[in-house]
Formats: sequence, structure tokens, C-alpha cells
Amino acid sequence: MKVLLAVLKQIHKPALCTGNPRCLSSGATSGLLPLGDEAPMVGSSPELVQKLRSQVEVRTDFITEAEEAAFLRELDPGLKKKRYEFDHWDDAIHGYRETERLRWGAACEEILNRVRSTAFPECSQLLGPVHVIDLDKTGYIKPHIDSVKFCGSTIAGLSLLSDSIMRLVKEDTPSEWLDLLLSRRSLYILRDQARYKFTHEILKNEESVFNGQRVPRQRRISVICRNLPG
Ligand code: OGA
Ligand code: MN
Repeated sequence: MKVLLAVLKQIHKPALCTGNPRCLSSGATSGLLPLGDEAPMVGSSPELVQKLRSQVEVRTDFITEAEEAAFLRELDPGLKKKRYEFDHWDDAIHGYRETERLRWGAACEEILNRVRSTAFPECSQLLGPVHVIDLDKTGYIKPHIDSVKFCGSTIAGLSLLSDSIMRLVKEDTPSEWLDLLLSRRSLYILRDQARYKFTHEILKNEESVFNGQRVPRQRRISVICRNLPG
């Protein structure tokens, strides 16, 4: 089933976001939230951060080191047989290899069930195969909106092996943005407007700065669960 490829091929390319956040140093307007229980996010204004808080979650340490290792054991042999793809400049993703998996070993299945019950309502119909993206250290994901034809209102992703920054930019108002610190072994969830009205991207190493703090990017594997359109 080529759902995955379709998802990526149909990825929506936004108009050039001229108002993109480049400077994150203006603390007064950064909308910085206290860390702690709150998701590690900074945005163009405190109002935007507040508004999106119900639609964007980041759960730090959602999985343990042992659980991360279980995913690696299951995924790495297959991934290593593929080559990272760098040369398709048209693609939404640069420097990546990917796979999708329907059946998982018991350890990973249990973790994925935890992701599913955390992110999706019980009645939600999920996309069968789980999507896995292995980004090279130099890889990145350009701004896009996931296909509305193939995916529903919620996207939930585990980040393995590296911290990274996910940036959301409002499609019709690029001055409105939100940066999420996706720490290694965290789970992020994007819902509703955050999923439909904002592009999301994973910043390249050179641009990987969260609230003025450098966040070095290593190889990163994401494991992404989606639901079906309603
Ligand atoms: C995608 C995507 C984010 C991630 O595959 O559409 O946005 O965490 N992935 O890898
Ligand atoms: Mn996406």
C-alpha cells in the first residue's frame, strides 16, 4: 500500500513564508512558557501559545531509553538497507530514508498502543501502517501540511535518537509561529487547527535554535501515528 508515498507526494507546499521567525531572541514577545509540566514551546505571541496549547502537546520522556532501544532493534536493520535520499530538491524532506510498518514486535506494539491511547479518541480510525522517517544528521523536513485526503485531524510522533525543533507557521499569516522543542524520546501531538492551518517542519542542524538556545541535531528517527479523515 502506497499510502505513505501519497501522503508525502501530496504534501502541501505553502507560499514562501516571508514573515518566518528567524530571530527568537526577543524575549518580551516570545511567549515563552515556563518549563515543567507545560509543553516546551515558544511562539510569536503569548496569545498564540495560549490558543494552541489545547491543540499542540509535547510530552517529554514519553518513552524510556530501553523502549527507544527496542524501536532501534526493530527498525535499524531495515532502515540500514536503504540509502538516505538527498537529491530530490522538490521533496518535502531532505536527507532521509523512510519505511512504514503494520506489524510490530510485542515491545514496540505496547508502546504504540500507549501513543494511540494518549493521542487519539477511542473511536478514532487509525491509519494502519505506522510511518517511520530516519533523518540524517544533515536532513530536515520543509514546511508542509499533511495531506487532508489521507490523514485525519491528529498526528502523533515519537522522536528517537536526537532532540529537534518543530516549527509551526500559520499558513495565511506567516508572522504567527510556534517552535516546539522535541526532545529525544518525547511524543508530540498536533491536532485540529495546528494540523490544518499551520505548516510544520523540522529544522536543519544549522537553524536548530530554541528560544536562543542551540539544539544540535543528530540522526533522528520519528515514528508517526495518524488517524484517517473523518
Ligand atoms: C511528516 C512529518 C515529522 C516528523 O512525515 O509529514 O511532518 O516528526 N514528519 O518526522
Ligand atoms: Mn507532516
